[in-house]
Amino acid sequence: MTFEIENVSKIFVSEDSGEKVYALKDINLTIETGKFVSFVGPSGCGKTTLLRLIEGFENPTEGTIKDDGELVTEPSNERGFIFQHYSLFPWLNVIENVIF
Ligand SMILES: Nc1ncnc2c1ncn2[C@@H]1O[C@H](COP(=O)(O)OP(=O)(O)OP(=O)(O)O)[C@@H](O)[C@H]1O
Ligand SMILES: [Mg+2]
Repeated sequence: MTFEIENVSKIFVSEDSGEKVYALKDINLTIETGKFVSFVGPSGCGKTTLLRLIEGFENPTEGTIKDDGELVTEPSNERGFIFQHYSLFPWLNVIENVIF
């Protein structure tokens, strides 16, 4: 499973002020099969947004994300996504949640 992230930007529009927020701007990245990759950066730099785009929960404002050459436009059961909150079983440990 190789991910190709090309010229990806994601703009959110504030519901209150109407102001545009660039959560991501012109991201280019290739993640090869079998690689273990971490996104590290300060709060608000766009880590979660990028993960949500790779999974297909949201679409980029600009650019494309491909999974083995196929455009990612929606979630797929070919990809796994472990949420930080809400969907983990608190009575299971990390590896048990992953196995589930
Ligand atoms: N649904 C949304 N509507 C409006 N703005 C959003 C939305 N989601 C994210 N943002 C904004 O996009 C930017 C990136 O947010 P994101 O949650 O991706 O950052 P993060 O790196 O995951 O931060 P943290 O380390 O706190 O989890 C922030 O300015 C955030 O306020
Ligand atoms: Mg986050």
